[in-house]
Amino acid sequence: MFQIGPYSIDSKVVLAPMAGITDRPFRQLCRQMGAGLAVSEMITSDTSLWDSRKSRTRLDHTGEIGPIAVQIAGAEPAMMAEAARMNVVLGAQIIDINMGCPAKKVCKRAAGSALLQDEKLVAEILKAVVAAVDVPVTLKIRTGWSPDQRNALKIARIAEDSGIRALAIHGRTRACRFNGEAEYDTIARVVAQSRIPVLCNGDIDSPQKAELVLHKTGAAAVMIGRAAQGRPWIFREVEHYLATGEQLPDISLSEIRDILCTHLRELTALYGPVMGPRIARKHLGWYLQTIPGSEMFRRQFNQLHHANDQYDSVLEYFEKLQENEDIAA
Ligand SMILES: Cc1cc2nc3c(=O)[nH]c(=O)nc-3n(C[C@H](O)[C@H](O)[C@H](O)COP(=O)(O)O)c2cc1C
Repeated sequence: MFQIGPYSIDSKVVLAPMAGITDRPFRQLCRQMGAGLAVSEMITSDTSLWDSRKSRTRLDHTGEIGPIAVQIAGAEPAMMAEAARMNVVLGAQIIDINMGCPAKKVCKRAAGSALLQDEKLVAEILKAVVAAVDVPVTLKIRTGWSPDQRNALKIARIAEDSGIRALAIHGRTRACRFNGEAEYDTIARVVAQSRIPVLCNGDIDSPQKAELVLHKTGAAAVMIGRAAQGRPWIFREVEHYLATGEQLPDISLSEIRDILCTHLRELTALYGPVMGPRIARKHLGWYLQTIPGSEMFRRQFNQLHHANDQYDSVLEYFEKLQENEDIAA
């Protein structure tokens, strides 16, 4: 469907990187459910910080479905280049550069979207990273620093000239954070001037919206973040709608249960018996968002500390939901 260097991405919908969310278990689920690509959570370019449990977990790509795309964040060209090189050694097949994140921790170090203010530095970073690795390098940006400094067109040109192979754009400026609605006109203008694939991101939460945005911008693909939380099957829904113009029937309770159980198992396998069940709580909350009356179960689940207890409680809860559904039918 579109190409990132040597990789053919066979879906027009991909998963956005989200720190603390798009870990390997979640990326795998999204890939299995139709996402053409799943970019990792960002990892700092300061390799001296990689010897923490958090970084070690983020750097582990065992068994991951390729192409493995790893996002790096930082502001110093040589450090970014070195981080890219090290990630390739550790299995990255695509390096993605974060110039879109508004988080304070990143911006205070003038990384993430703060870099968009300094076009010369942007070019230096991109060129250094592209020169350092022989895998494709992609870039993720916002439309600019603020509504009166919306320089996505300029940055896109710099990216293309620096050898960037695909560009993802979140349709907000850094100053907009997550407020208001994403705008796609700037993205459409970037698409019109670009020869590399442009991925459109921001507020895409349904197959219909995905189609509308693709039509409006001419982007190669849409990138979905928050709407995939607790709903990894959104990729299958979008893909099907784009291919056929028809909406898939709602996912069944039994399939949600199976996906959730796989997710819980994989979290414990990656994070271990203490952290795994803790991390599972936020994901469970997202899965239950669309299930009315789930608040009580959620509270009970949050009291559980062992993976097996969590797993059994999910099976029991979904069995009850299924019984109620059968009675109502
Ligand atoms: C919790 C959270 C963490 C995020 N972490 C990152 C990140 O590590 N790197 C990045 O480029 N963008 C990050 N983003 C931004 C998303 O990739 C995406 O651009 C944004 O959420 C808009 O897309 P959406 O409306 O589909 O969620 C994050 C967003 C959220 C909500």
